[in-house]
Amino acid sequence: MKIIKVHDYAEVSLNAGEMILEKVKQQSKLVIGLATGGTPIGTYQCQCLIEDFKRNQTSYKHVHTINLDEYVGLNVEDRHSYAYYMRTRLFNHLDLPHEQTHIPNGVASDLVKECHRYESVITSLGGVDLQLLGIGENGHIGFNEPGTSFLSKTSVVELSPLTRKANARYFNSLDEVPSHAISMGISTIMQCRQIILLASGEKKAKILQQLLSGQVSEQVPASILKKHHDVTIIADQAALENYHGDYLVGF
Ligand code: PGA
Repeated sequence: MKIIKVHDYAEVSLNAGEMILEKVKQQSKLVIGLATGGTPIGTYQCQCLIEDFKRNQTSYKHVHTINLDEYVGLNVEDRHSYAYYMRTRLFNHLDLPHEQTHIPNGVASDLVKECHRYESVITSLGGVDLQLLGIGENGHIGFNEPGTSFLSKTSVVELSPLTRKANARYFNSLDEVPSHAISMGISTIMQCRQIILLASGEKKAKILQQLLSGQVSEQVPASILKKHHDVTIIADQAALENYHGDYLVGF
């Protein structure tokens, strides 16, 4: 695991964008795992992705995307769905073919079957080359909340009260935040060939400190990433204010 410590959110976004853009240019076929939430917004908008496309028309026709999760009960037209988020914040701004973008279907009539279908999509694409992750204040990755088995595959998960509260800022009220989601599993995430985890702001300082200095434990889902062979954490000073340990590079 390596940590790139940068000054602020803009630099987090730029560093992540650069890593993604490099892969897009390097590989003739690429599967990128994408995340939603507040943190990756800057990465998508930065001069390396949407802005780069506007200027240089870097093509994404050879890219497939796999999203980490989707709320149960929200359809693709719902502006709170992650399908809507991805279309408006990234996909509509690139030349990425729509059929190459994959997000779990949160309104599937059989959600368990949908989870199996999603796993087969990932397998049929040959796995994820580069997975972007955020981290919840409780250490979740995807929507895999504390206590989730490290062996989990894509499944229907219940959102913790802390996660619902953190995400309520996007809804009119806490009551509107869905109680469940479909989330890529932890073992599915661990199979991704390369992982970038983004963290910004003082709200993430406590969990980053716990992740980096504590034990690998299912109570801190992101802690399993210490056992992955290619993880880069890109975090700003505020998120790393409590950490002065061994993994740091740069800065
Ligand atoms: P955030 O969410 O980027 O909105 O802080 C991160 C997460 O919950 O994984």
